[in-house]
Amino acid sequence: MSERKLRPEPRTRTAVVRAKRRPSRGLDSVAADSFFRDLVWSLRNGVLAVMRDGTVTVMNDVAYQILGLTRKPSDLGKPFTEVLKNQQEVSRIVASAFELSHLPNRAELRLKSTGKVIGYTLSQVRDADGRITGATLFFKDLTRVEQLEERERLRDRLAALGEMAAAIAHEVKNPLAGIEVMAGLLKRQLADSEDAQAILGDIIKEAKMANAIVLEVLDFVRPIRLQVERISVADAVRDAVSMADSHAPRGNVAVTVDLPEQLPSIQGDPHQLRQIFTNLLTNAFEALGGKGEVSIVASAINEEGPAGGEPQGPMVQVDVTDNGPGMPADVVDKIFSPFFTTKPQGSGLGLAIVRKIVDAHDGRIDVSVLETGGTRFRVTLPVTGSHQLFG
Ligand SMILES: Nc1ncnc2c1ncn2[C@@H]1O[C@H](COP(=O)(O)OP(=O)(O)OP(=O)(O)O)[C@@H](O)[C@H]1O
Ligand SMILES: [Mg+2]
Repeated sequence: MSERKLRPEPRTRTAVVRAKRRPSRGLDSVAADSFFRDLVWSLRNGVLAVMRDGTVTVMNDVAYQILGLTRKPSDLGKPFTEVLKNQQEVSRIVASAFELSHLPNRAELRLKSTGKVIGYTLSQVRDADGRITGATLFFKDLTRVEQLEERERLRDRLAALGEMAAAIAHEVKNPLAGIEVMAGLLKRQLADSEDAQAILGDIIKEAKMANAIVLEVLDFVRPIRLQVERISVADAVRDAVSMADSHAPRGNVAVTVDLPEQLPSIQGDPHQLRQIFTNLLTNAFEALGGKGEVSIVASAINEEGPAGGEPQGPMVQVDVTDNGPGMPADVVDKIFSPFFTTKPQGSGLGLAIVRKIVDAHDGRIDVSVLETGGTRFRVTLPVTGSHQLFG
């Protein structure tokens, strides 16, 4: 069905009434009614307008897209509570237009159904005599803006954390080396005592482990300097499969790889990209505990960008999915934070590093816990990014 057919009929009763009532504002003499309709339809914001009786009079394509609803020709003229029955939060906001005396100028809302963040302005529609005849909701998808802000916050956090970690590592490294050397000396001097040998052996082992953690932290907080070249994501994935094997025992885990031939190469750092998939696969193997399935599926996509926003260009999307135990929601919220781990031997840096590398490539990483059980990490990388130093 064509878009035009779905638009409201040109001469609705309201349109006629308004045309009669507002000659003093001079608008109608300058532009035809059809122009105002086209204007609303061409806006890159979502627009939803309701009459005083609660019926929907305008809902443009962007509004449907952002709210994740499918247009039905019968929506116009229906009560907004019915059209928005799966978007209760939005419905409540529209309803408040007739209840509040002061409407918020600009507010934000996270849609429960899609997780999208919208920024909106609510206005009352008044006629020439000042009577409220309806309400409009103007909104925009801010999800991408939110992601960029979060990235900025993470960058600040990492910078502060980096300074602190570098200072601590500096202070700790020398005494640790001292402990290791002196324990070694003592071990030689007490060669006859079995007990002392065992204890000193443990001390040396622990000191070495502490030193390894310090080095790992320093590695994590160091800014990433990308050595960008045209690289094949498929190669990075294939290398990562064999690297992950050496990080975590794979056992009987079956790995299926679906990498289309025509997958475009991207601008990125081959070493860092390999690291992304190695860390994701290592986690998957650890979650599966030696039994299960991991699939890696890559595809080329052309992101349109947020509804009403700029297109984001060609991207390569890689899904790493396992059929492991998944995670509870409170764990999902924290997995990208540095040092968050649920594993006795984990350092909690694996996904923090993944996120840092993905950000440095101007990409995105999303995690979903699947209803069927298991976890899916989706990495989306632009074919051409504006790579900067990130740290
Ligand atoms: N595929 C997965 N399935 C279930 N839980 C996962 C999965 N991937 C990550 N997690 C959870 O996220 C946490 C953080 O992962 P991350 O890779 O950052 O650290 P880690 O694996 O615990 O330690 P490290 O990677 O530093 O050795 C894990 O401890 C685990 O609870
Ligand atoms: Mg890990």
